[in-house]
Amino acid sequence: MIPCPQQIDRIMCVMDGAFDPVYGEAWTRKQIADALALPNTHALVIDSAGRELDGETPGQAAGFVLTRHAADEEELLLIAVLPDCRNKGLASILIDRLFHHARDRGTDKIFLEMRRGNPALHLYRKKGFGPIGERPDYYLMADGSRIDAITFGRTI
Ligand SMILES: CC(C)(COP(=O)(O)OP(=O)(O)OC[C@H]1O[C@@H](n2cnc3c(N)ncnc32)[C@H](O)[C@@H]1OP(=O)(O)O)[C@@H](O)C(=O)NCCC(=O)NCCS
Repeated sequence: MIPCPQQIDRIMCVMDGAFDPVYGEAWTRKQIADALALPNTHALVIDSAGRELDGETPGQAAGFVLTRHAADEEELLLIAVLPDCRNKGLASILIDRLFHHARDRGTDKIFLEMRRGNPALHLYRKKGFGPIGERPDYYLMADGSRIDAITFGRTI
């Protein structure tokens, strides 16, 4: 499937504003375009009022979540909200919508991985994710240091 350029623009707009370069977690435009060309990768984009934006709907993005499904499992690859739009429940809305769409795709379980110390932990805990594993020194930071990865999961 050819990904919609407008949707990629929106994702990159949030990506560029949301991720601290220190952690090297932001994806490039090519990585997003390549991922969305695969039929099992899904992007959900919302505006600052929590409305879902598809390729046809006009509006500016405030946040997005990107996932990949395989069989009855789905992996949350990235979630981000623009700094000016945070602490208003938008990430929580993204995850609730993701559960809804994922169930429609036949997903039973959702997994994600985060670097130890990411404050997104509070969001994930609140949305019912529990820790299921660790990968020591998994992520390489921009300064050459390493941080553990923690895997979380939940059934939906
Ligand atoms: C993590 C992120 C998506 C949260 O977005 P948000 O829209 O501000 O989150 P919400 O407002 O929906 O918060 C939902 C809950 O999580 C908690 N939470 C979210 N971010 C938090 C933080 N940085 N510190 C403490 N708690 C946090 C909120 O307090 C809220 O709980 P409450 O309802 O009990 O108050 C946003 O901070 C972000 O884009 N961070 C940079 C990108 C990133 O690190 N993504 C995760 C790895 S891919």
